[in-house]
Amino acid sequence: MVYSVMAPPHSMSAQELLRWYIDAGVDETIADGPVNRFQEKPKAANPAPLDLGGKKKDLADAAAPPPSSSPSLPEASPEMSLLPPQGGANGEVTAAVHLAQSAESVDELRRALETFDGCGLKKTATKLVFTDGNPEAPILFVGEGPGAEEDRQGLPFVGPSGKLLDKMLASIGLDRTGVLISNTVFWRPPGNRTPTPQETAVCMPFLERLIELVDPKILVALGGPAAKSLLAETTSVGRLRGKWFSYSTPGLARPIDATALYHPAYLLRSPGQKRVTWMDWLGIKSKLQAP
Ligand code: URA
Repeated sequence: MVYSVMAPPHSMSAQELLRWYIDAGVDETIADGPVNRFQEKPKAANPAPLDLGGKKKDLADAAAPPPSSSPSLPEASPEMSLLPPQGGANGEVTAAVHLAQSAESVDELRRALETFDGCGLKKTATKLVFTDGNPEAPILFVGEGPGAEEDRQGLPFVGPSGKLLDKMLASIGLDRTGVLISNTVFWRPPGNRTPTPQETAVCMPFLERLIELVDPKILVALGGPAAKSLLAETTSVGRLRGKWFSYSTPGLARPIDATALYHPAYLLRSPGQKRVTWMDWLGIKSKLQAP
């Protein structure tokens, strides 16, 4: 549950403060870092007027933050960046690639992830959420990222959308002993926000290595964000579902058949889409049974 609580008294130790928040009912973090609400924000001295006349000012420029010497805004941390990483210049992604590629089994990959500190989400999450199911399975499902229940248990898809996923698996005669399930990010984003491109990019080398190690017959992206990451398609899942794509990396001996499904959380909100999704599951079943 997410609460908005009044400010605690000033003169408390860190331990007292934590107890105060717990007693007030706070049980999860929704921001990436602590916010010092006691610190008054200095008022901006003379905000520069927007020059809307003469040479037209680009609105993106107008919305850009002031230079970092401005006292009124905190400096952006790397985790706050919404820009995609710049290839090899991004140290965390490079480190993730090396670490992931050094793993020779799914267990080794999990241990490598446990030691990895390059993803900001790890700071606010309770547990690493990597895989559930059978690493020998012919089918790998990839969702977006862990939610509250997944964060508590350290397993993907164990909350309400996981319950629906289990039902849909059962409808084609499968359960978690015959599939493997993972996500595009391996720690819960605070307040279930969408992972930033940087968070996704830094987890991607681990997901790619997972796919290489498991080498499934079929790869299924659950929802738009997973479809975008895995299928390199920018169009909506509504247009991608029901179609088959090829997923390949240099580490795979052959391309893998990949498809996208509506995310179970979306189906819980939009049960009208269950009908077409049932057709998609039947397509997956026949692909699995095909020689
Ligand atoms: N939604 C996801 O995308 N992944 C989970 O693990 C749980 C919910």
